[in-house]
Amino acid sequence: MAHSARPVMAASTAAATPVDHYRFFADALDSLRADGNYRVFADLERRAGSFPRADHHDGAVSEVTVWCSNDYLGMGQHPKVLRSVQDALAKSGAGAGGTRNIAGTNHNHVLLEASLADLHRKPAALLFSSGYVANMAALATLAARLPNCVVFSDAANHASMIEGIRHSRADKVIFRHNDPADLDRRLSEVAPDRAKLVAFESVYSMDGDIAPIAELCDVAERHGALTYLDEVHAVGLYGPRGGGVAERDGVADRLDVIQGTLGKAFGSFGGYIAGSRDLVDFVRSFASGFIFTTALPPHVAAGARAAIEHLKSSRIERERHQERAATVKCRLAEAGLPVMDNPSHIVPVLVGDAGLCRLASDRLLTEHAIYVQPINYPTVPRGTERLRITPTPLHDDDAIDRLVMALDEVWRRLDLPRRPNG
Ligand SMILES: Cc1ncc(COP(=O)(O)O)c(C=O)c1O
Repeated sequence: MAHSARPVMAASTAAATPVDHYRFFADALDSLRADGNYRVFADLERRAGSFPRADHHDGAVSEVTVWCSNDYLGMGQHPKVLRSVQDALAKSGAGAGGTRNIAGTNHNHVLLEASLADLHRKPAALLFSSGYVANMAALATLAARLPNCVVFSDAANHASMIEGIRHSRADKVIFRHNDPADLDRRLSEVAPDRAKLVAFESVYSMDGDIAPIAELCDVAERHGALTYLDEVHAVGLYGPRGGGVAERDGVADRLDVIQGTLGKAFGSFGGYIAGSRDLVDFVRSFASGFIFTTALPPHVAAGARAAIEHLKSSRIERERHQERAATVKCRLAEAGLPVMDNPSHIVPVLVGDAGLCRLASDRLLTEHAIYVQPINYPTVPRGTERLRITPTPLHDDDAIDRLVMALDEVWRRLDLPRRPNG
């Protein structure tokens, strides 16, 4: 595809100093380090069959317990998933071999899209390279092409939604987080003849709070707006078949688009949207981020489908997941640690300072063989830096005991703030 050229201005003066591009990169990184916001990756080797334990490479190799994975149910190592991946790999080979339109559609994609449509009780579903790309491509396409569209975006929406909306160049109105009354007010201010799209999430991944989906749908319906729900941190985890919070609340049919990931509770990789046949076909037909990229590897699609189908009928993982999260929250609170209250499976523990958050994480890793990544700005606002703990059904009582003792020791050693009565 040809891309349009931007006019380049001539140099204003011959004496102007040329940009030192590499100095620019180094300065930007130095300023991240100075703020404590420079990201350091933990070099891990997940071992199928041993999750949540993993090998940590840091010169030497040592075993750690992972407490911050989004493989929320451990489906990344489930025997049914591994068997499906291995079978598809043996049958179809490593890659898809093309874009969906040009030789890349594998039968595993077709089956997976049908499985996803069924999961959300929608007529159609469409796969993307990731949940990020699904949001980016679907929102950009819908908002750019709907006539004179205004997007109403929850103030706490994920970067992928924000980027999609930005990319569309449609007008954007940000409504107060999880606030139907504010959404109502803001929708009232926009002319009835403009297309309207309300975009929000169900479970917000850093605070763990949950949207009032029914109330937001009430408002959107009153104003004739389309609704777009990101269920990335809920699919597989909530609802009788793992269809997400919208399924749990019995409101999935009121959402025009349900978006999700295959990379978290389903233990695989990829993203999707589900909706009406025409809406999904529209995105399939116009979304650059869907059209011009290689399709998911067939074995990845096969593994994701095995996880989805398993979780449609098995509730054991979901029930134990909720029980483990509730137990961890309770144990940490009893130890006087500052757990941020919420109704979901996410367990944020407030530190409130970027440098201390990193120090706490480092000490957990080096002294206690516990891996919890620090969550700093810009992922969360400054002053709310935290450890985000994600219990899974595979964290046993012994692992929880060790986590609580380790956090207690780290909080004492670094003199971190506790709950008022801690
Ligand atoms: C709310 C939300 N939406 C979308 C995504 C992107 O999903 P994926 O990791 O599949 O790209 C994330 C990522 O972590 C997320 O937290």
